[in-house]
Amino acid sequence: MLKLRVILVAFAITFIGSVSANHKSDHSIKERLAPTGKVYREGDDVPVSKPAEVASTGNRDGETVYTASCAMCHSGGIAGAPKTGDAGAWNDRIAKGKEELYKSAIDGFTGDAGMMPPKGGCANCSDEEVKAAVDYLIEQVK
Ligand code: HEC
Repeated sequence: MLKLRVILVAFAITFIGSVSANHKSDHSIKERLAPTGKVYREGDDVPVSKPAEVASTGNRDGETVYTASCAMCHSGGIAGAPKTGDAGAWNDRIAKGKEELYKSAIDGFTGDAGMMPPKGGCANCSDEEVKAAVDYLIEQVK
């Protein structure tokens, strides 16, 4: 009777061993055959990366703001805009004082020469960025 038990246990160990060995190789084959990508269908819980932060305002420098929002008119003196760096066009304006020019640029200014749109039309420019662009414009006048 004892002999039979030992044989049964021996069988059992052999059997379990072969099953787990089979299981292992089966698993690694599946792994090797797995597709590299995954298809998501509508309604699936898709892992999404967060969208990039919207270009922040308040920290672009004057030259960047000028290039993006002011140069289109001021670099060529378009539509009556005082041309960048042209002392003749700027000296009288600079004489009004920086604060006055900041105000014109932020709120807009319509004079004899034409129409300066508020913030040059830059909807996401902060007041500080527009002021920096004014400083940049003033610096260009030699
Ligand atoms: C659509 C064209 C246009 C754009 C864009 C524009 N300007 Fe002007 N700007 C003008 C015109 C035209 C004038 C002159 C208005 C006048 O004196 O009749 C002017 C005048 C100015 C003045 C002088 C204001 C004064 O009180 O004499 C400043 C400063 C100025 N612009 C800054 C800027 C800045 C900074 C930007 C960009 C953020 C900008 N402008 C974008 C057309 C533009």
